[in-house]
Amino acid sequence: MSSARDPLHVTGEVLSVKRIGAYRHLTLVAPGVAERSRPGNFVAVSVGDLRPRSHQTRLSYWIHRVRNTGSHGATIEIIVEPRGAGSQWLTGLGQGSRVDLTGPLGRPFAQPKEPVSCLLVGEGHSAAPLFPLAERLRERGCVVSMLLAASDEQHLLAALEARRSARSVTVVTRDGSVGRSGRVADVLPELLAQVDADVAYAAGSVETLHAVAAAAEAHGAWSQVALELPQPCGTGLCNGCPLPVVGEDGVARIVRACHEGPVVRGDRVRWTALLEGA
Ligand SMILES: Cc1cc2nc3c(=O)[nH]c(=O)nc-3n(C[C@H](O)[C@H](O)[C@H](O)COP(=O)(O)OP(=O)(O)OC[C@H]3O[C@@H](n4cnc5c(N)ncnc54)[C@H](O)[C@@H]3O)c2cc1C
Ligand code: FES
Repeated sequence: MSSARDPLHVTGEVLSVKRIGAYRHLTLVAPGVAERSRPGNFVAVSVGDLRPRSHQTRLSYWIHRVRNTGSHGATIEIIVEPRGAGSQWLTGLGQGSRVDLTGPLGRPFAQPKEPVSCLLVGEGHSAAPLFPLAERLRERGCVVSMLLAASDEQHLLAALEARRSARSVTVVTRDGSVGRSGRVADVLPELLAQVDADVAYAAGSVETLHAVAAAAEAHGAWSQVALELPQPCGTGLCNGCPLPVVGEDGVARIVRACHEGPVVRGDRVRWTALLEGA
């Protein structure tokens, strides 16, 4: 018997593709997926018609927004950075194109029971799942602050929107084209202290997530990190996304990033093993 939380495999429809800086913002009609999703869930999209085995290629994308559009029901929005063949195929789709996807997948962000102070750290396109999270946390009475980071202005995701979602927003770019010049790690200790964060949520590169987990621990805060490790299937079937962790029993083990994650507690990740394997 399927539960309201089980992922669905559906043929979706592209409602729109818009350019946002270096990214493409896709709105997809995906019946049932939107209704089941929680902040931190992702969808696995089948990218096709590229090579002989294209029907087996699936790429994962964070669910950025869920919106109710009267005529098409609830839709999902994803942010795609066109890079290799798969993401270029996806961002090249026109309005009305059909696309197979499975979702919502993965373990979402755990949310605090008390109204605490939360710092949300998002790097590049990976900031996508933090916006619905910010809304949920605010509904729970949490104080939400955001740190958005990118290589340059083109890769900075939705900084204006962040100002509506958070009490304070800090921006850092590596080239200094907007906000402060530097990286997440440069401003993190100061920011955690400034907002007196109880929880840090982060989505970005493994190096950035490691920096957030370490700084949060030093500050005495919990951390939840959303990992983007390569995922051949995204559904827990292939064991192709090994994530080294320490279990609650203190024993080191390997779990599947797509199924036991992709959101995990920062202090549970064996960062050295992960970075060495990356
Ligand atoms: C949980 C999660 C969330 C993510 N969220 C986002 C997001 O919100 N936005 C974003 O931009 N990225 C996101 N990513 C990254 C995204 O999944 C892709 O990795 C990224 O878009 C790069 O795609 P690409 O075009 O370079 O991949 P490709 O060039 O298509 O390559 C991907 C892999 O598939 C193989 N492959 C490609 N085509 C075929 C084929 N026809 N047959 C067989 N193998 C093939 C390649 O060899 C490679 O191993 C996320 C990843 C994860 C794990
Ligand atoms: S990607 Fe296949 S098990 Fe995680």
